[in-house]
Amino acid sequence: MTDTTSRAAPLYAVFGNPISHSRSPRIHALFAAQTGVALRYEARLAPVDGFAEALDAFRAEGGVGANVTVPFKFDAWRLCKRRSAAAQLAQAVNTVGWDEAGLWGDNTDGIGLVRDLARLLGGDPHRPLEGRRLLLLGAGGAASGILGPLITAGVRAIALWNRTGDRAQALAARHGALAAQHGTDLQVVAEPPRQWADGVVNATAASLGGAGLELAEGVLRPGIWAYDLMYGAQDTPFVAQARAAGATAWDGLGMLVEQAAQSYTLWHGEAPDTAPVLAVLRAELAIAAD
Ligand code: ATR
Repeated sequence: MTDTTSRAAPLYAVFGNPISHSRSPRIHALFAAQTGVALRYEARLAPVDGFAEALDAFRAEGGVGANVTVPFKFDAWRLCKRRSAAAQLAQAVNTVGWDEAGLWGDNTDGIGLVRDLARLLGGDPHRPLEGRRLLLLGAGGAASGILGPLITAGVRAIALWNRTGDRAQALAARHGALAAQHGTDLQVVAEPPRQWADGVVNATAASLGGAGLELAEGVLRPGIWAYDLMYGAQDTPFVAQARAAGATAWDGLGMLVEQAAQSYTLWHGEAPDTAPVLAVLRAELAIAAD
């Protein structure tokens, strides 16, 4: 007879470099406590050129699933035998697991953003952006993870701007068929349009440098909302900039919790309640900053 009580709980991890800042172990521990699931979830640092080896070693150790963060999302995408449609469009994977066919990968970042926006904006939880005009700033890894789900969430028009225009063109080209299928007018713009967007999503890494973006007057304005994928104990520079321009602005902590919840659901077949977990995380961020 197997003694299930003495067997170690299934092992999960988040891989990144750096990784010590990651809140994923905390979030998954809170989800596990809430749903009564036994699991271990650890933060794992992998060498920048050694993700595949680190993932193999993790699997050999008994690992059953993992999240993947910067800079390994593309490596993870490459390694997967089977990828979700979202991962395929993003060319990035943030959630992996193994089944009889081998390594599978999904990307839960975009659905995480859409769910957080649904919470913040109200309306149809699956199509919170129905009919809206959206300005998306950035065309790097973060932007490519969210563009597909923004299109399928019913956005009417998306203006895509990036400092380096070629990257925006490539990202838009990859999403052209999806945009056409959903009736979304997806345009690359040389300058962020003024007096146009209902909502602005910042997927650039500009906040990391401690500064906002140089945006012409009227891009951010009263009556619209703005969302920064970055988050912090204090307002991010973009959130502060958007509020100063009169917009309603939020940071990306809610998206972090929602993308984790979707990974959790893929692995455990049960959707956790995200609201209390987000409240705990927000409070812990504030305490850590004191
Ligand atoms: P990530 O995975 O965080 O998206 P990335 O792929 O390196 O990282 O992309 C960073 C994004 O932030 C890019 O869109 C980048 O613009 P470029 O493609 O022109 O490099 C954008 N970015 C970073 N710093 C920026 C700044 N100070 N102003 C405007 N855009 C910035």
